[in-house]
Amino acid sequence: VRASRERLLAPGPTPIPLAVLQAQVDAPPFHRGPPFRALMERTLDSLRWLLETEGDVLCLTASGTGALEAAVVNVCSPGDTIVVAANGFFGDRVTSIAEAFGVTVVRVEHAWGDVVAAAGIGAALDEHPTAVAVVVQHSETSTGVVNDIDAIAAVVTGRDPRPLLVVDAISAAGAVPIRMDERDLDVVCVGSQKGLGAPPGLSFVAVSERAWAAYGRATCPRYYWDFEEHRKHLPETPWTPATTILAAVDAALTIARETGREALYAKHVRNAAATRAGVVALGLELFGTAPDTAVITTAFTMPDGISPSEVAARVRREHGLVLAAGQGQISGGVLRIGHLGHVEPADIVAGLAALGATLAAMGADVRPGAAVDAALGVFSTSA
Ligand SMILES: Cc1ncc(COP(=O)(O)O)c(C=O)c1O
Repeated sequence: VRASRERLLAPGPTPIPLAVLQAQVDAPPFHRGPPFRALMERTLDSLRWLLETEGDVLCLTASGTGALEAAVVNVCSPGDTIVVAANGFFGDRVTSIAEAFGVTVVRVEHAWGDVVAAAGIGAALDEHPTAVAVVVQHSETSTGVVNDIDAIAAVVTGRDPRPLLVVDAISAAGAVPIRMDERDLDVVCVGSQKGLGAPPGLSFVAVSERAWAAYGRATCPRYYWDFEEHRKHLPETPWTPATTILAAVDAALTIARETGREALYAKHVRNAAATRAGVVALGLELFGTAPDTAVITTAFTMPDGISPSEVAARVRREHGLVLAAGQGQISGGVLRIGHLGHVEPADIVAGLAALGATLAAMGADVRPGAAVDAALGVFSTSA
């Protein structure tokens, strides 16, 4: 049972199951001592299960951006060079964070909507062999693209010196396999309000041994985010954490463990296929060159003369459904349907129905029910 008042079809925050909301009521009222420690231990164990790592996972009271900043300041020094795979809004954010700390960013530029080309990352590393890290968005939420982490890892992990591979899995964790240890990733960032289906306010960073060694050398200023401060207080946190949200994340991960990783990932593939089919059936164009990778968020363009933010506003006002307009350089150009976490087929069907009806009401030449038919067709053949 879910408890959202508006139906969320945004790429985060996502719908929160009732059991997850209710868990907050039972959160330990105090962040020191056995009840809190048990909660944190269980949550971090579940995250290790989800990310498939044996390494340390740290809990930060911050949204995902805090985790990205923590990743930068704990492994970089001012004057270091890092390589950023830039194919959307969140690659730009990482660039801004790193530059704010005096880190030199070599951006491997892509058109938004393209998948990161591993060969381009390899070429950047050939040119900057002392780069200390490569940062990539696993799921670039602004365009929907899911980058090929295996291909990127293949060009990074064989190098000597070996740069760290830092992965922003803020919208990817819980939706696609992370396999941190097998892929030899070094820092993986996760947010509470995306694939996990908990409220916003917490993020997590998984840290490899190689990243700990880099931490020892890194001199970026840091205090609140200091990894070692966090590690030495485990299973507590150095500062007062968002205890209620931690209890929610624990409950969300309990659901994920009961569901199983493979079932979670299969559900995302199916929901994405149904969404794509619906969008295409309305005659809309999927955004970018790799829409088939977009198993977390589907981005698409509007018929001429129709503004995505106006569509989103009308869908929300008239149907109680939250879709997301674009971000950054594509803010006026795309509409996005998030289908991650606890978004269910009925949400997708409702979202597509509202989208078709709204476009028709705004004068687009569409058959409003076409998207619903197409999505139901996918759901009925891929149960
Ligand atoms: C890939 C990615 N990185 C970073 C962020 C930033 O996270 P937050 O808004 O929680 O700070 C988001 C949020 O949408 C995201 O999707």
